[in-house]
Amino acid sequence: MEVVICKTKEEASRLAADMITAAVKKNPKTVLGLATGSTPVMMYSEMAKAVKAKKVSYKLVKSWNLDEYVGLAGTHDQSYRYFMNENLFKKIDIKLSNTHVLNGLAKNPEKECRAYEAQIKKAGGIDIQVLGIGSDGHIAFNEPGTSLSSRTSVVYLTPSTIKDNARLFFGGDMSKVPTQALSMGVGTICEAKKIIMLAFGKGKADAIKGCVEGGMSQFCTASALQAHNDTWIFCDEAAASKLKLKDYYAWRSATKLGL
Ligand code: PGA
Repeated sequence: MEVVICKTKEEASRLAADMITAAVKKNPKTVLGLATGSTPVMMYSEMAKAVKAKKVSYKLVKSWNLDEYVGLAGTHDQSYRYFMNENLFKKIDIKLSNTHVLNGLAKNPEKECRAYEAQIKKAGGIDIQVLGIGSDGHIAFNEPGTSLSSRTSVVYLTPSTIKDNARLFFGGDMSKVPTQALSMGVGTICEAKKIIMLAFGKGKADAIKGCVEGGMSQFCTASALQAHNDTWIFCDEAAASKLKLKDYYAWRSATKLGL
């Protein structure tokens, strides 16, 4: 695990976007795993800037997103499909038909999840998976108590996630947040060849501490990434503030990135 500690989230977002831009330039058929939430928005803007500047093209890129709320159509303005269209897909030259988000209205949700995994496998697996981290240490919607080898399935949101997401997306009304979602599993996520996690602000400090320096535990599903061989965490100083070895991680990652 490499932890890149930046002065600002702007800098962290730019460095993470640069890593994706370089990978897509090298392999125009890169398969991306994408995330929603407030955290990756700035990185997505940086990716869009690179497309506008003609530094890179996403014409041959395929993407699969981490999760979607059960019960919301992709046209609903709080759905993750809608979020992706607005925050990234409309701003880059990716073909919408090459982008995939789980269908929150699937009649048979478990079948939908199995088919999603099969699609990813057929595409050769995810080359780069983008992740945020929940304040409770979740990745995608894999809440505390989820097996670290879980697969894409129907999952149940904790009250703390419902509260976090109400603040961000549902005008503060917890009763409007769906309580279930379809989510890639921890095991599914860990099969990605490279993982780029973003984390900003002091509200993420405990989660980052658990992810990087806690024991590997289903209580903090992000800690499963400790067994992943190519994970990069781009964070600001506030999110990294509880790490015991933060100066060491910062030096090591900056040296590897040639910063
Ligand atoms: P956030 O969500 O980016 O909105 O903080 C992250 C997550 O829950 O994975």
